[in-house]
Amino acid sequence: MLSGKNILIGISGGIAAYKICELIRMFKRQNANVRVICTPNALNFVTKLTLQNLSQNEVGIQEFDVADFKPEHISYADEADIMIIAPATANTISKIATGICDNLLTSVVCAFKKPVIIAPAMNCNMLDNPVIQGNLKKLASLGYKILEPESGFLACGYEGKGRLCSLEKILEEAAAILNSTGTKKKYVITAGGTVEDIDPVRYISNYSSGKMGIALADEAFFQGNDVVLISTVDVKRPYKVIKVKSAQDMQNAVNEEFETADCIIMAAAVADYRVKTKSDQKIKKTNDDSLTLELIKNPDILKGLCERKKEEMLKQVKHDRIIVGFCAESENLLENAREKIQKKGCDFLIANDISRKDIGFSSDYNEVTILDKTGGIKKLERASKNEIAREILKEINE
Ligand code: CTP
Repeated sequence: MLSGKNILIGISGGIAAYKICELIRMFKRQNANVRVICTPNALNFVTKLTLQNLSQNEVGIQEFDVADFKPEHISYADEADIMIIAPATANTISKIATGICDNLLTSVVCAFKKPVIIAPAMNCNMLDNPVIQGNLKKLASLGYKILEPESGFLACGYEGKGRLCSLEKILEEAAAILNSTGTKKKYVITAGGTVEDIDPVRYISNYSSGKMGIALADEAFFQGNDVVLISTVDVKRPYKVIKVKSAQDMQNAVNEEFETADCIIMAAAVADYRVKTKSDQKIKKTNDDSLTLELIKNPDILKGLCERKKEEMLKQVKHDRIIVGFCAESENLLENAREKIQKKGCDFLIANDISRKDIGFSSDYNEVTILDKTGGIKKLERASKNEIAREILKEINE
């Protein structure tokens, strides 16, 4: 799957650098071309000769080892299809996040316009430091693919989160990015729970964190697609994000983007009802022991899209578009999901069991069942929302 691909591996100075020798071999076994650059500190953990032998290429360390008319960092950046920084130390992560170019590796990343995977590895307390967390978040929001470090026994003697993720994961991630279909699609993805105002200080909403929808948007983007995320959660991403609040705002944005979409995924938790009359002033407490709010139905955005698609297909005015719904259930998951896919008329429905605390709402993990309109069912076992997102995209595109 990686045959002929040009992989650029950047190694920074952490103990996990020794593991990268095996990573190079794994890429070479797949017939990929591997080039390696190191920070000077990385050479405290691995030798240039080892890396050179394994990659069968000269290893870059100094920025001014000029062999060509092009500055070295520009040649590296131009040649590679993907760059993987592993291990990425706290120092290197922070330099990249602030645009510092004080060695070959940081200069190359700065000039790199193609996908970059960053696999951090460090002591758990360093990883926990809000400055480092902030830098990682910043990089993720700029489109860098961050591979979460794992928990376990660390080389420094601590037990905690900070180990380099598995080498298989790095390889799979690179393969997924490099083998994305190549045919660019436009994905419109909704995320988060809608907020329905009652008065200027109160609202009706739900516990959706938006993480599943954002993970789907990130994955679709990493696979080279055009992505529009319509979200109630404030996020900064390198693709288009439309911030919305209520179900009606979301419907307006979705309807507009649907026009040119190839695939729409309604991962948002849309409030079914809103107050009939929103008060312009704060509602004051009265002497009564109860207060009645009259609620009216919100539009069913998903159902509306499916009906629109059907009409447009009948009139042959639009190409087929994949419509995916989500289904949050606290009981009788499959039974309700089967009924819902019929009722809504979508192509796929991703069923979520929201009664479980270890998955779903606000968790970083999920476990879902994918139903398709022909009655097919596929269960995806518990995994991170990013992994689930990748599987969902694979299933809906097959
Ligand atoms: N949905 C929507 N508009 C609504 C309500 C839901 O587009 N007004 C979408 C959601 O984004 C999701 C799917 O419909 O993709 C199913 O949402 P869910 O809350 O599970 O179902 P509901 O139709 O709201 O039915 P119920 O709450 O009764 O289970």
